[in-house]
Amino acid sequence: MIQFSTWEWIRAAGFSSYFLLFLSVCLGIIQNASMISRNVRHVLFQAHQMMGWFAFLLAFFHGFLLYFDDYQPFSIQEIFIPFLSRYQPFFTGLGIVAFYSMFFIFITSDFMKKIGRNIWKTVHYLIFPSFILVSIHGIFIGTDSKETWAQYVYISAVVCFFVLIVYRFFYKATPKSNRSRG
Ligand code: HEM
Repeated sequence: MIQFSTWEWIRAAGFSSYFLLFLSVCLGIIQNASMISRNVRHVLFQAHQMMGWFAFLLAFFHGFLLYFDDYQPFSIQEIFIPFLSRYQPFFTGLGIVAFYSMFFIFITSDFMKKIGRNIWKTVHYLIFPSFILVSIHGIFIGTDSKETWAQYVYISAVVCFFVLIVYRFFYKATPKSNRSRG
């Protein structure tokens, strides 16, 4: 039977979380497009939310497993307090900051009715800088970053992300009356 080391689980969880976060961000932007029908928008919105949650859970798993690593174990403080770790403090810190932003986004999404749509939306936009932080985090400290396949993953994700951002912010937004509530 194939055995995976803790380090391999950490890396697999990091990559899976990154990929799901990427899909969630893309779906979040696409479901807002004017050419998307109401029914399709609803499905895309559900997928956007679900992938965001799984990305968050996997990011937690990815960070938490560092505590059990034999080669470079992290203390609980190093895992949860940004820029405190002995290993690559700056780039690890960016991952932690992105993780907290995701947490904050989920919490505010659950309380959207109480806090109001404007505050919710402002907090939700934190996902854009967070995605950039997490891309820098993965590219600069990932063991796999020197592999060609990993470089293709990062380059395509970042290019797609910027194309969608340009589309989202510089092209006409969907008229409000055509949007589903979510
Ligand atoms: C939004 C959350 C996060 C995402 C999407 C994410 C994603 C990634 C990715 C894609 C890698 C590269 C893996 C590889 O090359 O094999 C990575 C590496 C790493 N991440 Fe995160 N990360 C996140 C949060 C965190 C947190 C909270 C910590 C904890 C302190 C952390 C610590 C690390 C470390 C130490 C590495 C280096 C692993 C290696 O050598 O490959 N990350 N992360």
